[in-house]
Amino acid sequence: MEEFEEKLSPVFKWGGGKRQLLTEILPKIPPHTRYYEPFIGGAAVLLGLKPEYAVINDFNEELVNTYKVIRDNPEELIQLLEQHRENNSVDYFYEIRAWDRNPETYALLSNIQKAARTLYLNRTCFNGLYRVNSHGFFNTPCGKYKNPEIVNAERIRAIHEYLSSNRIDIRCGDYKEALKYIRPGAFVYFDPPYMPPENGDDTFTQYTVDGFDEERQKELKAVCDRLTAKGVKFMLSNSCCGFIKELYKDYHIEIVQARRNISADSGKRILIDEVLVTNYEV
Ligand SMILES: C[S@@+](CC[C@H](N)C(=O)[O-])C[C@H]1O[C@@H](n2cnc3c(N)ncnc32)[C@H](O)[C@@H]1O
Repeated sequence: MEEFEEKLSPVFKWGGGKRQLLTEILPKIPPHTRYYEPFIGGAAVLLGLKPEYAVINDFNEELVNTYKVIRDNPEELIQLLEQHRENNSVDYFYEIRAWDRNPETYALLSNIQKAARTLYLNRTCFNGLYRVNSHGFFNTPCGKYKNPEIVNAERIRAIHEYLSSNRIDIRCGDYKEALKYIRPGAFVYFDPPYMPPENGDDTFTQYTVDGFDEERQKELKAVCDRLTAKGVKFMLSNSCCGFIKELYKDYHIEIVQARRNISADSGKRILIDEVLVTNYEV
């Protein structure tokens, strides 16, 4: 198991990834019964914490399907990714990207083929950005990489080992649904799409066709209030803007710094303040 633990880190490049904040986040997670991560994205926190009992969720079907395939069919997935790696070129990228334009033929693909496509596109598209147009078609352009890492077999095997040897319930849907039967003593880490920081940089809110606007942020805060009343501890990440600080003013707020892209195309990275909100004293 130790051999796998070393490799246990995200396979996806995912907007707002929490890998670099793990040293801030992990020590602040209190003892708990079951771990919940309802906006799983790249899964950096889950894979850093390695809980034995967890519920993970995202409403991105392609992402969730890929985690299930890593759990159930890692070797077949690695094989298909190796084929994508051998064929990789700009034309090939656009050919694979276009598969979802025909819903009838797309539905005929196996879950393993869909997962290999999702991971291949994620590793080769511009900034690993997951973006779909109004028809739900993946439309991020090809990235400019000399030698993109399309398959990391050891990492896929490590995640497979973790997901298949622990009690990890993988769900796809709205975050509220995933929390429906939560019990006192559980712990939730929320990493929702961020509120755009005040400088107008909205690169972290474009995950899917559905935006996560102010109303949805308020709805999430109401969910946090209900969890608190129920005896469930939570931690929540978000951008450090006036709206979020005001919304969570009755909770503990810590400011941490994360290295983020300034804008989608500049490739420049700067330190940006983010908040960690908790309903317990750290
Ligand atoms: C900030 S990302 C999570 C980043 C992740 N924690 C990491 O470390 O890479 C937010 C995620 O929430 C998902 N999402 C957005 N709205 C959602 C909703 N209503 N219910 C569940 N998931 C949602 C997006 O698909 C995206 O994967």
